[in-house]
Amino acid sequence: MLPGPTNVPERVTRAMFTHMINHRSKDFVKLYTDVVEKSQKVFDTKGDVIALSASGTGAVEASVVNLIKKGDKVIIPVNGEFSSRLATMLEWQGANVIRLTTPFGENANYDQVKEAFDNNKDVKAFYVVWNETSTGTMVKYLDKISKLTSRNDSYYVVDGVSIIGGEELHMDKWGIDVCVAGAQKALAAPPGISPIAISPRAKKYMIANPPPTFYFNLARYFKYYDDNKETPFTPALPLLYAYREALDIILEEGMDARVKRHRTCSDALYSGLSAMGLTPFAKEDARSTVVIALNYLDGLEDKTFRSTLSEKFRVLVAGGFGDLKGKVFRVGCMGEVHKYHVMRTVSAISSTLDMMGYKTNPEALKVAEEKLKVL
Ligand SMILES: Cc1ncc(COP(=O)(O)O)c(C=O)c1O
Repeated sequence: MLPGPTNVPERVTRAMFTHMINHRSKDFVKLYTDVVEKSQKVFDTKGDVIALSASGTGAVEASVVNLIKKGDKVIIPVNGEFSSRLATMLEWQGANVIRLTTPFGENANYDQVKEAFDNNKDVKAFYVVWNETSTGTMVKYLDKISKLTSRNDSYYVVDGVSIIGGEELHMDKWGIDVCVAGAQKALAAPPGISPIAISPRAKKYMIANPPPTFYFNLARYFKYYDDNKETPFTPALPLLYAYREALDIILEEGMDARVKRHRTCSDALYSGLSAMGLTPFAKEDARSTVVIALNYLDGLEDKTFRSTLSEKFRVLVAGGFGDLKGKVFRVGCMGEVHKYHVMRTVSAISSTLDMMGYKTNPEALKVAEEKLKVL
């Protein structure tokens, strides 16, 4: 139950056990075009998708170095570890970064974002971490931002590493220019492939203004794909086979059903764990549907709690980051998560708390079960 890497279905694992092929061959063209076309369905875009052989950070960095030049003005909400990292990357790139900082567990609201656009007519891009994995918050107004970016003629970039594949996304309809995912999260594939989707206008800009980098130079990826449906460098072939299989599973389930499953499971986790006496870290209107961060009860020690949970009940959850270390734990609700995982997690947390001397509410399991009935 980690917020990545998540459980990988056996079909996906098996897809990796195959001969390695020449990445300049018809076999590769078939594999890679499949990956691109199936990813386009998940992102709901007709634009280009590049499956980078890199972890999520690589694709996020590619979104920065290919779009931002020294002195460019960028707006970014900052409310946790991953949005702070992205703001730093933008600063290292030489951008003039306007941080919309809010306390951890909260999000900048739409009006604050609008105000920043009103006050900065010359903004080059809006960057946003859709799901702040470190605090369990998610931005819920992605569909409204293009009103602002199109008015100010700026680019719209989304780090969706920890949520794409688990929540509703309509990249083209929402006017997103660059959108980044990570295979090891809600897409339920192994780590190492990070898809990045790019709108036609961002592609045009990136080709005309390539960065002085080699590996993450997206203009090169566009050329290789447009000319030969290949990648410029040797791709992580076993991971591409696995990612293609994971995409097949997603499309077989259907994105609507998948989103409903994620929302229902997170609702059951929030409700069941709250009934047990735990409180979610994120404010109610900012709560993520794929990462549930919970405050530790007074005196409940992080390491003992998580090691008991994993050793006695074989349920793995994550700790907190930075300032939140020892204060919260995080439950991933991503990818393969289903009723079974939710009930087992709620039950294991309840038993662990009992073992550690905390009184829990036996009704918590029923509360979670009730929520799961719609699945
Ligand atoms: C929102 C977000 N962005 C970026 C990353 C970085 O991804 P990776 O660890 O795969 O490099 C993560 C990882 O958890 C993330 O949650």
